Amino acid sequence: MSEASAPDRSRKRFVYTAAVICALGGLLFGYDTGVISGALLFLKKDLGIQHNSFMQGLVTSAILIGAMIGALTCGSLADRLGRRRLTLLAGVVFGIGAIGAAASPSVGVLIFFRIVLGIGVGLASVIVPMYIAEISPADVRGRLTSLNQLMITIGILVAYIVDYLLSPYAAWRWMFGLAVIPAAVLFIGMYFMPETPRWLVSNNQLDRARQVLARTHRDEQIEDEIEGIQEAERRSREQVGWGVLLKAWIRPALIVGLGLAILQQFVGINTIIYYAPTTLSKLGFGSSSSILAQVGIGVVNVLFTFVAIRTLDTIGRKRLLLGGSVGMTVSLAVLGFLTLSVGIKGGTIGIITIICLAAYIASFAATWGPTVWVMLPEIYPLRVRGPAEGVATWGNWASNFVVSLAFPSMLAGLGQGSSMLMFAGMGVISFLFVLALVPETKGKTLEQIEAELNVGTQKDAPQQ
Ligand code: BGC
Repeated sequence: MSEASAPDRSRKRFVYTAAVICALGGLLFGYDTGVISGALLFLKKDLGIQHNSFMQGLVTSAILIGAMIGALTCGSLADRLGRRRLTLLAGVVFGIGAIGAAASPSVGVLIFFRIVLGIGVGLASVIVPMYIAEISPADVRGRLTSLNQLMITIGILVAYIVDYLLSPYAAWRWMFGLAVIPAAVLFIGMYFMPETPRWLVSNNQLDRARQVLARTHRDEQIEDEIEGIQEAERRSREQVGWGVLLKAWIRPALIVGLGLAILQQFVGINTIIYYAPTTLSKLGFGSSSSILAQVGIGVVNVLFTFVAIRTLDTIGRKRLLLGGSVGMTVSLAVLGFLTLSVGIKGGTIGIITIICLAAYIASFAATWGPTVWVMLPEIYPLRVRGPAEGVATWGNWASNFVVSLAFPSMLAGLGQGSSMLMFAGMGVISFLFVLALVPETKGKTLEQIEAELNVGTQKDAPQQ
């Protein structure tokens, strides 16, 4: 039985609405990870941790501990509960985390609720792209999936603006608490959105799957789509478990994926995204002007994400990554040498600092930010994509955790200049890594990519 599909325009509107509502999960990911940068300036006094750089690092990175838990558990929960119900659950977790963090009477309670928020972030980092990819027709899937990274950067920017507007009142509790609004919108919006056809088919709810497909696909596509899902479903049942990740044939893809995910963090992006006002206030900026400069950084981050979305399929992934590594290395090296030679000052040096920070963010946002998330699903063979992506996403959160936790102590121990130079060194490593190991995936089929990565290590690969 085939459902009558909706006319073109209303189908498009429906798919875009579903993608935007779900991508509010990405917005919350960005907001909750970004809001700490401004909030930290005020909460460290209120909660008595202004001289404890380890505790400051822990408040910042507790969210990442939660994200590691959320990312690892998301795969099986998404299968058991369904994509829609898990997104609803993520909305609830985001809401509880926001209220709890806002009301925290002590640093211990705040750390606990930052972990809760992190579980929401980890869930969102997996479920949002999954829901969008599964609800979208193939011709708009790429564009709609990159909406996730765009919403992450918008979430970070909104957090910076909120931080700026509330900084005269030192209102760090409101900075955390306001996240309850998008969490509620995510929950209410998703309540009215359907489950994905992929999940419905794999749970034998074919009629409901057809009803959803009738709202997103053309009439003649519906049965093909159902068959395609059933075929993928059969293949995924044949898929092997986590143990396969130790086999030699998967190793090249695993090294590339993990390397990209880890280096995306080790180039130090979140020392700026999470800590820029702290860094800027050390450079002689007042609290409020540091946070305003941070808003500028957030705007650059959003705008340059559009550059990546437009060029990923033309310039190609590899060249973008290489260019990004050069841009980040140069801007960090200038910043590092400047701080070491002239010292930490405002005035002209302050302006050069802002320019370097903006150049660094632009280099990341146009390249490593979105490209890594685009490439992770491309480089893994279909039959190990789930566990392999889980490991890489976890690796991204784990290295984010290490860098964010270590940064305040690094600043205290090494100083601003040497810390920047260390990250510049990571920029050089990221360049060499991409040059030597990362294949160009632009315009290639997933099978071609798979074959290139497996050359010379096919001996224990299973037969197709
Ligand atoms: C990274 C995040 C980072 C964000 C900045 C993402 O691609 O994974 O760690 O905070 O970009 O826009």
